[in-house]
Amino acid sequence: MSAPARAGAGGPAGAPPVRPPENPADVDVVVTPMRRRHLRGVLRIEERVYPRPWSMGLYLSELGQPATREYLVARAGAHVVGYAGLMVVLEDGHVTNVAVEPAWHRHQIATRLLLQLLRRAVARGLERATLEVRWSNSGAQALYRRFGFAPAGMRKRYYVDNHEDALVMWAHGLQEPAYAERLAGIERAIPGHTRLEGFAA
Ligand SMILES: CC(C)(COP(=O)(O)OP(=O)(O)OC[C@H]1O[C@@H](n2cnc3c(N)ncnc32)[C@H](O)[C@@H]1OP(=O)(O)O)[C@@H](O)C(=O)NCCC(=O)NCCS
Repeated sequence: MSAPARAGAGGPAGAPPVRPPENPADVDVVVTPMRRRHLRGVLRIEERVYPRPWSMGLYLSELGQPATREYLVARAGAHVVGYAGLMVVLEDGHVTNVAVEPAWHRHQIATRLLLQLLRRAVARGLERATLEVRWSNSGAQALYRRFGFAPAGMRKRYYVDNHEDALVMWAHGLQEPAYAERLAGIERAIPGHTRLEGFAA
């Protein structure tokens, strides 16, 4: 979605994406740092949801820069059902990507990922976060507004596949108590279970 310029689920090779449970209260998802072993699943989703998917090489490059990158995946069982990334630039976090397996849309997977990603940003001491989103992608914009991102500008013809404009959004005050309260409120409203694995204290 943004920098580096952007524009199937993980687990067993070729396995169809696992379907979400009928009842949102039964959703049970693990959020964990993205590792190389997740990339096959990440790329499968990437290819399903984006006209110009990132390559394996690009993800490997991102994972090779842990000092300035945070990449997370959401797993249902062994399957990657979503992922999100953040690039650190001084005191700013730049959300590089958020994507969810289509069968799992509207199950608060992106919300679980962003919640943890922004908590990681807060823990790193970042003051602000920003992202670009397609002008027409009102669903993603609604998701980001929930996390305090507000429109701040436009990048004309930002997306190379169809020359669509990007809306630039910023969230400020990440270190403020009010932002922690916002995240806590979002967390309380998520149905089902989210388990965190693989994070240092
Ligand atoms: C955008 C995307 C990541 C959202 O993932 P998701 O897991 O379905 O999002 P969530 O279930 O956490 O949605 C949280 C809230 O965001 C808003 N939202 C998300 N998708 C929406 C949609 N398609 N239409 C309207 N609102 C939407 C809603 O307010 C939603 O809450 P609700 O379901 O209680 O109404 C997913 O649609 C996707 O992968 N799209 C393709 C890739 C993409 O566009 N990524 C963003 C690039 S900037």
